Amino acid sequence: FVVDWDPGDAEKGGYDHFMMKEMMEQPKAMRDAITGRCAEAGAFFSGLHLDEEMMKHINRIQIVACGTAFHAGMVGKYYFEKFARISVEMEPASEYRYKNPIVDKNTLLIVISQSGETADTLAAIRLAKDKGAWVLAITNVVGSSIARESHDVIYTNAGPEIAVASTKAYVTQVGCMLLLASYLGQLNEKLGKKDAVRVCNGLAKTPELIEMVLDTQEKIRKFADANHEIHDLFYMGRGLDYYTCLEGSLKLKEISYIHSEAFAAGELKHGPIALIEDGTIVVAVCTQEHVFEKMLSNIKEVKARGAYVLAIVQESHEEIGSEVDEVWVIPKMDDDITPIPTVVYLQLMAYYLAVARECDVDKPKNLAKSVTVE
Ligand code: G6P
Repeated sequence: FVVDWDPGDAEKGGYDHFMMKEMMEQPKAMRDAITGRCAEAGAFFSGLHLDEEMMKHINRIQIVACGTAFHAGMVGKYYFEKFARISVEMEPASEYRYKNPIVDKNTLLIVISQSGETADTLAAIRLAKDKGAWVLAITNVVGSSIARESHDVIYTNAGPEIAVASTKAYVTQVGCMLLLASYLGQLNEKLGKKDAVRVCNGLAKTPELIEMVLDTQEKIRKFADANHEIHDLFYMGRGLDYYTCLEGSLKLKEISYIHSEAFAAGELKHGPIALIEDGTIVVAVCTQEHVFEKMLSNIKEVKARGAYVLAIVQESHEEIGSEVDEVWVIPKMDDDITPIPTVVYLQLMAYYLAVARECDVDKPKNLAKSVTVE
């Protein structure tokens, strides 16, 4: 009697792809990323050398990363500026390393890398260290080159990620950035205890919020089955939603090979609107209350040109259904938390479109999990 099985399949834990297994692991990954980092008075990182005294001298934060980690960095920039009130420069590592960046001993360089081995990111660390910066890495792999070469490390604790398209690493990177921003804000005395506790409470709910999105897969699969022959897909959003759109668009290109673009919705009239035709699908991410009305106007503009609009909103704005063709809802939550559950919708959309197009989801053509050479 011979059991016909492939050890690779066994590792997928019953799922068809590693990517699906890893998306399903996101609630646990978020829990592991937060555990031990939320004290009574807000975010806390034991073992970090960066302290109140050092923060007094930091006058510049730079964030450097590649790919999906770069998008997590953009969300981080928003959080650092909001909570710690320090201006942040953000650059892909491949740009930063070749441009003679302005760095000195008052610079904090934050690098983000799932693998901890990306060549450009590593080169950026070496450059900034030579110029006297303090380097803090956010990475998933314990003992990786980036972890070893940085002064401080925050591990995302997402567990091994095998699929080329990053999912659980991304949500934990975003979670760690939010915790870190709130921690630095407290060190800086720019963020009060009440708000710091609010951040922790919001993050504590994310595993459950992700679960809720994961439970809606049937609807997403149907959307993909109906639309898998499209050639283009556009994503628009404002503020934090814009960064989520960039990540959703990257996910889609990586695994389904559908051309896609993400843009800040206010930029619509500066170019992208020229590409909207009858039936073009536009995903409008509208989870940010302070720009909700602005998003509604952008939706009307694309609808007037014949777009099929799929809106993602917080439950409190379900009424948007009368303006758009399809609505996907996340529960009502703090606006700073929405990138975490929202991106899960976009990951699942990319996944089901790729599956419907019979693409090799876990190993997309031309892409590598870790880019260790230039
Ligand atoms: C490759 C992977 C991406 C990843 C990027 C950065 O392009 O395919 O999924 O986001 O590298 O990798 P890192 O390990 O530094 O996060």
